[in-house]
Amino acid sequence: MKGLILAGGHGTRLRPLTFTGNKHMIPIANEPILYHGLRNLAEAGIREVAIILGPIQEGIQEGVGDGSRFGLQVTYIQQGEPKGLAHAVLCAREFLGEDPFVMYLGDNLLQDGVLPFLRAYEREHPDAVVGVTPVSEPSHYGIIELEGEKILSIEEKPAKPKSSLALIGVYLFTAKIHPIIEKLRPSKRGELEITEAIWRFLESGARILPLHLEGWWKDTGLPMDLLDANEKVLGSLPAERMRVEGVIADGASVHGLVAIGAGSLVEAGATIEGPAMLGRNVRIGAGSHVGPSSTLGDGVELSGASVRRSILLEGARIVGPVRIADSLIGRKVLLSARHPSPEEIALIVGDAAQIRL
Ligand code: DAU
Repeated sequence: MKGLILAGGHGTRLRPLTFTGNKHMIPIANEPILYHGLRNLAEAGIREVAIILGPIQEGIQEGVGDGSRFGLQVTYIQQGEPKGLAHAVLCAREFLGEDPFVMYLGDNLLQDGVLPFLRAYEREHPDAVVGVTPVSEPSHYGIIELEGEKILSIEEKPAKPKSSLALIGVYLFTAKIHPIIEKLRPSKRGELEITEAIWRFLESGARILPLHLEGWWKDTGLPMDLLDANEKVLGSLPAERMRVEGVIADGASVHGLVAIGAGSLVEAGATIEGPAMLGRNVRIGAGSHVGPSSTLGDGVELSGASVRRSILLEGARIVGPVRIADSLIGRKVLLSARHPSPEEIALIVGDAAQIRL
């Protein structure tokens, strides 16, 4: 079994906000989104993985390297222009050979990883396994209509969805999918669609097994999705990942599951309520508060500020009596406030911005 992880695409809807680098390298619980996928593949016993790279790829090869850190052997494949999910499979044809493979969209996070896909494959020997789960906005996803296990229709982002069951971004295929993909033509939006490939695969007589997810799943396309994903991941990390390596001063108060990286300091008079994750060299000054579902990257500083259900990327500084919640704050942002904020404020701020309230 091989793994194919897609980290190409058109960059990010966050890009207008100048978050630098590839969107799959934005951290969730202080680990790039992409690494969560790589871990899922490694935990399922997959060793050979190819990563699909697109036009924006800064940071991926530098971060992942040869994959040995994850127990993987990682190969990189240049897709160039993102011409669709099925096009990415076409680009990986040589790497995939005749092996079955798990295809994993690099911006997806799922609680139970990919092991349930492999188990279903080993149990039932279908030609493909596709993960499905109900969603509240079906027109944003590939939608599958089922009658029991029978697939009645599959459509990509339909204007009038026939069901609310989405295809999540994880699929297991046998090599029989390749001739189907080789015959695909670009869709109306100019992409080789994996949803169309799955439908044609079915029409060709293939047995496609829908796998209903039990745990949570998140596609991290939008800033709000990143905050949701951060909350979900922090809420389900095992206690052993929540280590305190920094210093909690006497007179500081820390409750719940909290990770504090080396070189970090929680000063007297500061409070932290988990689940929360602080990277290395973070400083939580007196009078500051870190509330649940917060992730603070390396070098973040809070001075008298309060943060809840937010992601602060490396080097962000918040100075003064401001209260932020549901916020995504970019790298090296400086946010300063002279007067206490009457209520919590929600901000999405790109890298290196300076804001004075
Ligand atoms: O997240 C689940 C959904 O993912 C499915 O329900 C849809 O059927 C499927 O098409 C996909 O929809 P998205 O709109 O989320 O796809 P997106 O263009 O965001 O790309 C998904 C990932 O694949 C993302 O990590 C970027 C990468 N990608 C995308 C394209 C189009 C590539 O590596 N190459 C590509 O050509």
